[in-house]
Amino acid sequence: MAQKTYMKTYIIGNWKMHGVRTSARALASTVLDAAGRLASQKTEVILCPPATLLSLIADLTYNTPVRCGGQDCHAEAEGAYTGEISAAMLRDAGATYVIVGHSERRAGHSESSREVNRKAEAALAAGLRPVLCVGESLAERKAGRAMDTVRRQLRESMPRQGDTKRVIVAYEPVWAIGTGQVANASDIAEMHAHIATLLKSEFGFAETEVAVLYGGSVKPANAAEILRCPGVHGVLVGSASLNAEEFVAIINAAQS
Ligand code: 13P
Repeated sequence: MAQKTYMKTYIIGNWKMHGVRTSARALASTVLDAAGRLASQKTEVILCPPATLLSLIADLTYNTPVRCGGQDCHAEAEGAYTGEISAAMLRDAGATYVIVGHSERRAGHSESSREVNRKAEAALAAGLRPVLCVGESLAERKAGRAMDTVRRQLRESMPRQGDTKRVIVAYEPVWAIGTGQVANASDIAEMHAHIATLLKSEFGFAETEVAVLYGGSVKPANAAEILRCPGVHGVLVGSASLNAEEFVAIINAAQS
């Protein structure tokens, strides 16, 4: 736990495409009740609702220790891009963070690392902290290419311009997302050490200068163990963040 004494622990809820105003208000209020007490100097709690709910969640979390973020942004500041949302628009709606390069976008929307890089740079330029996702597929892990995949993704996606220390990296093995299958502690520690080495060798960041989170089937039952892994500075939570009790239990795990 030594590394966590000088770096915050980030607990991020990625709601994905779930929620309407009524359910979102109820979920956020319950999380706020508990997280308002639990979020502290040491723990940053961030809710990433669908874009339609961002203003609502931003209003609900205003003047509380809980922050909110978007789930994606466009690389351009504005323009003729029907259906897209820029980083500046997310900021305007009250976001302070934005997830970029989630595997559901890399795979489902054919986003390249180059595109993710542009989005991350756009986020920094708009004053948002990008949560940059990387992670290997099951086939890549089975073929012994997990480290290479993450190296390539990081090299190509990490922003090179702006206040790059504000980036948060999230390691999300694709095979662990929504499957209930969690990477084991030694694999997580190994990959996080690999990412820390890359952040130093490729980008010149000192150890723990950039936060690196784990994501993929994080639940109350495994959160404490994951958060204890060396090099893990928080978790990116999908389905368990839709259940207030479970999400609060995960925030609790970060306190212990
Ligand atoms: P699950 O926690 O549902 O596996 O999702 C993880 C994720 O994709 C968070 O961004």
